[in-house]
Amino acid sequence: MTLSGEIYSFEEAPLYQKSAQTYIETGIDIFDLKNKEAIPNVSTSSFPHAHSIVKLLKQVKTSKKKLKVLECGAGNGIFARHFLFACKKEGLLDKVEYLISDFDFRIVKDLRSRSLYQEFKENIHFRYLKLDLMNLDECIDIKSKPYDLGEIDLVIMNYCLHALPCSIYKKEDELLEKLYIEFLEQDNHQVQVLKEFWMEEKKVRFEAKEKQYLDLLHNIAENYKQEQKIHFNFNALDALEKLLNRLSPNGFIYIADIPTMDFDSRVSYRAFAGAIAYILNSQLISNFVETKNYWNYIHNDFILYKHIISKSQPSYRFKQTLKENFETNNPCVLFCEMISAMKIFVSDQSNKAYKALLNEFLRIDDVSVYSKLYQAIYYMKIKKFKKSKKLFEEAEKINFFTTCPVHQYQKKLDLLMERESLLKSMKPKFLGLFEFN
Ligand SMILES: C[S@@+](CC[C@H](N)C(=O)[O-])C[C@H]1O[C@@H](n2cnc3c(N)ncnc32)[C@H](O)[C@@H]1O
Repeated sequence: MTLSGEIYSFEEAPLYQKSAQTYIETGIDIFDLKNKEAIPNVSTSSFPHAHSIVKLLKQVKTSKKKLKVLECGAGNGIFARHFLFACKKEGLLDKVEYLISDFDFRIVKDLRSRSLYQEFKENIHFRYLKLDLMNLDECIDIKSKPYDLGEIDLVIMNYCLHALPCSIYKKEDELLEKLYIEFLEQDNHQVQVLKEFWMEEKKVRFEAKEKQYLDLLHNIAENYKQEQKIHFNFNALDALEKLLNRLSPNGFIYIADIPTMDFDSRVSYRAFAGAIAYILNSQLISNFVETKNYWNYIHNDFILYKHIISKSQPSYRFKQTLKENFETNNPCVLFCEMISAMKIFVSDQSNKAYKALLNEFLRIDDVSVYSKLYQAIYYMKIKKFKKSKKLFEEAEKINFFTTCPVHQYQKKLDLLMERESLLKSMKPKFLGLFEFN
């Protein structure tokens, strides 16, 4: 362990570099649950989540021009896969160009090396890009050629804005103080905050990006209690502003992130598999959008904080679709709850109930590895082993990041099939014995 002894303002601390390094060194294996530690994304990457956003996109389609969808920080690319399948379902596939981007080539190339989008055509339905939210003016395609993003109809950011460093403030006798830290670097490249201390705002050095949004910081600080940490995600605001400038007139930005209510404000950040999440200050983002006079929709549930931003008032049908997919009915929450419910039925006595639940599940998801797994389990329960085996094989093929416990159930089927063949081979002997008696 080495003690660097260096003092940094929170947003400049090597936490971000180390976190970025972790993403680059691990590549998309950072999402693979077969590893000891992995970044979880079952709900954000679920088919129902992608499908509900495609339904919204359908409402902004007006001209014959292809809709351009940009996904930032695409990570393991499962969301993009599901999005393309949902476009197909909604008859939008040939009307969409999906840009799958991440901040480093290692991740983008890793993604390309997997067979995630075999059912779709590269450069027609989708395209890989290297795009860093900290440097949006530079966008490069898979051949390292500059790529002009042009006008975008939809920007998707799932668990991604939180990867950008923020600064942290607190109120002290009505004045603001900024957080500085001393950090400890361990041999395994993990970093640990050793000491935190506060500096008066007037003694602080501001980065140009941070300076732009200081008024917003002062405004939201009014609602904070003394000593309460204020997360100032100025890099996220800067990225949002640049992306909003690229939106088509009725285009929109979709953000899904860690719910703020899930977050203990005494903590400065959270770490997942060595990558840092700075936690988004939803109030800050909302205030920023309001000062720009953009249209704004926020929805929180126990899984996700969702924020939709549009430059213009969306249509009545858009708002209706929003209500149907995020409020009265929320397929993403339903998906998570059904995954838990499917585990309840363990015996063969519950086949009928399991089938009813399966039908309900297939109504919201007949695409993902989960849909294949639950069908395989059903056929195993009713002893149609061949059909079950085929479905398990299909599930295994698309279980790209071991997010789904396919193998565990497949082992059970293997045992059942073994037992059945053993019984079959014993039958003649039993019969023989019977005849002898
Ligand atoms: C927590 S992961 C989320 C990945 C994926 N969207 C999901 O929901 O699973 C954060 C993603 O942001 C990417 N990322 C980190 N820094 C970034 C930056 N400066 N610009 C764009 N993406 C970045 C990481 O490579 C990673 O893929």
